[in-house]
Amino acid sequence: MVLSGKLPISVLNVLLGGSPRDSQDLIVIAKFHSHTGRLTIALSFVQGYRGSVVYFRGVWYSGALMLAVITGGSRGIGESYARQLAARGYNLYLVARDAARLSAVAREIRATHRVLVEEIVLDLAQVDGAERLYAEVRSRRTVPVDVLVNNAGFGFHGEFADMPMPRIQDMLYLHLVTVTKSMRLFLPEMRERRSGTIINVASVAGFLPLPYISLYAATKAFMISLGASIGREAQAYGVIVQTCCPGQTVTDFHATAGFAEPRYAVGGVQTADEVVSDSLAALDHPREPLVTGLRNRLLVQLLRILPRGLVLRTAARHLKPS
Ligand SMILES: NC(=O)c1ccc[n+]([C@@H]2O[C@H](COP(=O)([O-])OP(=O)(O)OC[C@H]3O[C@@H](n4cnc5c(N)ncnc54)[C@H](OP(=O)(O)O)[C@@H]3O)[C@@H](O)[C@H]2O)c1
Repeated sequence: MVLSGKLPISVLNVLLGGSPRDSQDLIVIAKFHSHTGRLTIALSFVQGYRGSVVYFRGVWYSGALMLAVITGGSRGIGESYARQLAARGYNLYLVARDAARLSAVAREIRATHRVLVEEIVLDLAQVDGAERLYAEVRSRRTVPVDVLVNNAGFGFHGEFADMPMPRIQDMLYLHLVTVTKSMRLFLPEMRERRSGTIINVASVAGFLPLPYISLYAATKAFMISLGASIGREAQAYGVIVQTCCPGQTVTDFHATAGFAEPRYAVGGVQTADEVVSDSLAALDHPREPLVTGLRNRLLVQLLRILPRGLVLRTAARHLKPS
């Protein structure tokens, strides 16, 4: 953007820490806004002086330099992370399998927030899903990854004995192998830079064994445990690892999981935007794990004190497919 105008020399003195000497002087003002990740640079030639006012003409640039990688960024909670991080000035790499959907979301975010949004079409439910993601990000990026959101995931509703073997394998790869390996791949650079954030989207379901969504609950329990211990190690280097545990959230999740209808009876129901707002707000005051929504937090506290047998019986009754 072209920049031209006039400024009192006294203001320029404050901005530059010294005043320009003659009409050929170059004014350079650079400011990095660490909260939003925006870099503002003004480059301008002094055109002349009149009294205590300096006239200048040059260019002005303000853009995001921070980069967030979001898995499952094409829908639901991941899409909300994408929109809210873009609104904070982050460039985005969005990962999902459905290329058309990913591209539509990326186009829309680019137009709305004027940040760079790149699509990575990748099935992360593979044994080397994390390595492929890491290699793809490294081959494209020009700045370090500041935020990694391990959000891609899916549920399965039904008896474990009926769960198709390919779904079991996909869930284990996506929720356990890819999340674990991605942290291992992206963390060392963050540790070296002494800054960075990893958000793993687990679930309130990870706080208890849940019949009829048994493997899903167990994988989310793994994420909660791993995130808490790695988060503690990373804290020493100024790196944040947040395990975000939403309760029931209005997305395509329940349809994909095979629920005949969403079971929105227990805990609070949130929108994806509310979950993500809670998650990002909590980065300033880290809590491990982060349970989003007041009603979900109360539910988790209640689960800690109720007898395990009672919780299992009630959950089984509530979740049994009709
Ligand atoms: N909704 C809830 O009630 C709820 C509650 C607690 C926790 N969560 C967790 O929140 C996370 C996001 O779920 P959501 O509710 O937003 O569900 P969603 O609307 O179904 O979105 C899932 C996202 O993950 C992507 N994804 C799924 N499998 C993938 C794979 N193999 N490789 C790459 N990307 C894949 C999907 O894109 P493609 O299909 O195009 O690949 C999509 O972008 C999940 O981890 C889920 O367990 C959800």
